Amino acid sequence: MYDSNPTIPSTEKVIDESLQGSAYGNELDVADVDSKKFYIESYGCQMNFSDSEIVASILSKSGFKPTRNIDNSDLILINTCSIREKAEETVRKRLKIFDAIKQQKPGLMVGVLGCMAERLKKKFLEEERLVDIVVGPDAYRDLPNLIDNAAEGEKGINVLLSREETYADISPVRLDNNGISAFISIMRGCDNMCSFCVVPFTRGRERSRDSFSIVAEAQDLFDKGYKEITLLGQNVDSYKWENPETNELVDFANLLEMCALVSPKLRVRFSTSHPKDITDQVLYTMKKYDNICKYIHLPVQSGNSRVLDLMNRTYDRDWYIQKVDRIYEIMPDCAISSDIIAGFCSETEEEHQDTLSIMDYANYSMSYMFFYSERPGTLAARKLTDDIPLETKKRRLQEVVEKQQTLSLQHNLKEIGKVYEILIEGDSKKSDLDFKGRNSQNKMTVFPKMEPYKKGDYVKVKILEASSATLKGEIVQ
Ligand code: SAH
Ligand code: SF4
Ligand code: F3S
Repeated sequence: MYDSNPTIPSTEKVIDESLQGSAYGNELDVADVDSKKFYIESYGCQMNFSDSEIVASILSKSGFKPTRNIDNSDLILINTCSIREKAEETVRKRLKIFDAIKQQKPGLMVGVLGCMAERLKKKFLEEERLVDIVVGPDAYRDLPNLIDNAAEGEKGINVLLSREETYADISPVRLDNNGISAFISIMRGCDNMCSFCVVPFTRGRERSRDSFSIVAEAQDLFDKGYKEITLLGQNVDSYKWENPETNELVDFANLLEMCALVSPKLRVRFSTSHPKDITDQVLYTMKKYDNICKYIHLPVQSGNSRVLDLMNRTYDRDWYIQKVDRIYEIMPDCAISSDIIAGFCSETEEEHQDTLSIMDYANYSMSYMFFYSERPGTLAARKLTDDIPLETKKRRLQEVVEKQQTLSLQHNLKEIGKVYEILIEGDSKKSDLDFKGRNSQNKMTVFPKMEPYKKGDYVKVKILEASSATLKGEIVQ
């Protein structure tokens, strides 16, 4: 599954996280034999995974039960991503497999949700004849209705985008979850127009969710035993919500503080920060509360000012460097990670070198790295030429990946000998004799189990070994 909060994942994951699919669902009990069952698979960013939990909630209310077993389902849903061409290819491959299952099981319905549904709209029903339902990210409340119609043989589509929908009143059904960390969506859409990006077209206008409903969700999770929340949005720093009763404005720094105050034992993380919008007030709020994790995902995309301008990122190299300086000045122990695109339109070798050098400067603990993939309808597709040969894109990407691996290793080797507070998330992947968990800086740490500690506890761990991907250590009293 796509580890939604990965610490220095494997190269393949780093190159294209959207290729990671995940199937959700709870095991069936016998008592559920009569109810209709849905199976949902999710691709793309954390927002999409979080949306699948909203979809699960809407469907559960209308009598559907989740299942992990695709062969047992009456409805297969696939929550899709359009961010790069490869992400869409993965979805099409899955649809072929669903088609084959459908041939064997008359009455089985297939629904396409998410960004690809929004991008392709009606075309989806024409191109993929066996798809019954197409629903965009703002129309999930209409799902039960569309399913009913589809059951009668009428194909259903709703891809209307909304300026208001935030699903604030829906409490997500937590799927395939460790019971310790959860995502809370705080806003939807994006008003930036990065020239390479399809998100503003698939997710619509930016809107912020009622802060009280966010804090209530955080409190509810904490009451249920969760110890970590991640506030999600494409650009969390531009969160802004006006209380209709008092006209008081709540910005992202205020919201962070409200969430941090739920309990000192509830860790607060957030993603993603746009370098143009992160304020000193946010940084000082992070510094003020120990339970706001010292980790910022601050995608740079490119280290060259001309390319950044073509990307319409609205900051240049110097502005980005100043932000990085400010972060380390206010919180010397903060880790910064990034997203990087190699081989954007007209990028020269020298400009590519600027990306490698800014990676050194920012000393990223981790990055997601991609080569540029032109998306239909975006500003870049309309105005710029995708002129870097695929081989060159791939070679530049490889150089970026190698640079990050060196940085990650250096970063982690420096941790040897230090003691960190780790939140135990569960057993390590490799051995049930070990626990895994992350420190505030989001670094995955593995250490031998010790009585009486259990999942959900905070423990002090001394770091003894490091690779580019993981820290190893032992619990110290
Ligand atoms: N809102 C986030 C990014 C969301 S998309 C932000 O502004 O940082 C996640 C990442 O996918 C982007 O940061 C970018 O690095 C990458 N990406 C987006 N469009 C792309 C494209 N057309 N080709 C390659 N990578 C792309
Ligand atoms: Fe896309 Fe830019 Fe919005 Fe991020 S900020 S979602 S990269 S348009
Ligand atoms: Fe993909 Fe849509 Fe997220 S395009 S990255 S699923 S917002």
